[in-house]
Amino acid sequence: MGELSYAEIKAAATRIAGRVRPVTVTRADDLAVDGGAAELYLALEFTQHTGTFKARGAQNFLLAHREAGTLPAAGVTIASGGNAGLACAWAAREQAVPATVFLPATAPQVKVQRLRSYGADVRLVGAEYADALTACLEFADVTGALASHAYDHPDIAAGAGTVMIELLERIHGLDTVVVAVGGGGLFAGVATVAQQHRIRTIAVEPENCRALNAALQAGRPVDVPLNSVAADSLGARRASDLALRAAQHEGVRSVLVTDAEIVRARQALWDDYRFAVEHAAGTGLAGVRSPTGYRPSAGEKVCVVLCGANTDPADL
Ligand SMILES: Cc1ncc(COP(=O)(O)O)c(C=O)c1O
Repeated sequence: MGELSYAEIKAAATRIAGRVRPVTVTRADDLAVDGGAAELYLALEFTQHTGTFKARGAQNFLLAHREAGTLPAAGVTIASGGNAGLACAWAAREQAVPATVFLPATAPQVKVQRLRSYGADVRLVGAEYADALTACLEFADVTGALASHAYDHPDIAAGAGTVMIELLERIHGLDTVVVAVGGGGLFAGVATVAQQHRIRTIAVEPENCRALNAALQAGRPVDVPLNSVAADSLGARRASDLALRAAQHEGVRSVLVTDAEIVRARQALWDDYRFAVEHAAGTGLAGVRSPTGYRPSAGEKVCVVLCGANTDPADL
């Protein structure tokens, strides 16, 4: 089982520099903690191209293949109607190669339209995601297109980890970084960089969408049931090996939060800062606000990565 390396993430940062938007960081209101206050910073990664950090991994994946001379004329293919699919379609357009995106026929029209707006060839196959995935892999086999993945690939995780390299420059003396976890691509990248700088990483998951937490408990990736308001982006059935390996280091904490806490944190981001973000981003903040989350110490510098904003703001 492989492990992501810091060198891979530094290489990714060099590769995608100038092709993604640098992260913006804002100092937020202090968190009240035992014996005082902790400094809270918010990384506004939802202002990234396509609305999430996924743009970083998708760019890195395609550029690494281009560098290696292995980017085929048939382009790239992925089975995802979510943020990974959007990022893949966007990166393919940037690299002027085709993107073929497979979705179940039940996918909402708005997702299909958004993918098409980035120039993707959208194919609707079967009733479930598994059918779309099979069709995607068959398509890759037949055409030679590169099969991409939402989180389980070193180039994707390394690309996501580049946000942490930027945070090191933005926040001097950072003690703790907080990320929401789906399949663990973002977490693996961020935790690998953080560990090198003795920064703690908090991995936050909805209590009923806990692929990484369950993998840590079992000592190997295992399938979990998915039921959360954040499942549209954090609903990976299984964490990656890379994520599990990164989580087994000292300095990583896995915490679970309830849907009610996620909804409250997302609402607070709107009420207090006028950030309309998706539930995945609310999950990160809930990780330091909720009683089941991580409790910083007085004086600790904590940064929460607000990872995405592909949301319907109507419920705010
Ligand atoms: C907005 C957002 N945040 C977090 C995640 C989780 O990322 P990962 O699967 O790399 O853990 C996703 C995944 O789609 C996402 O779209």
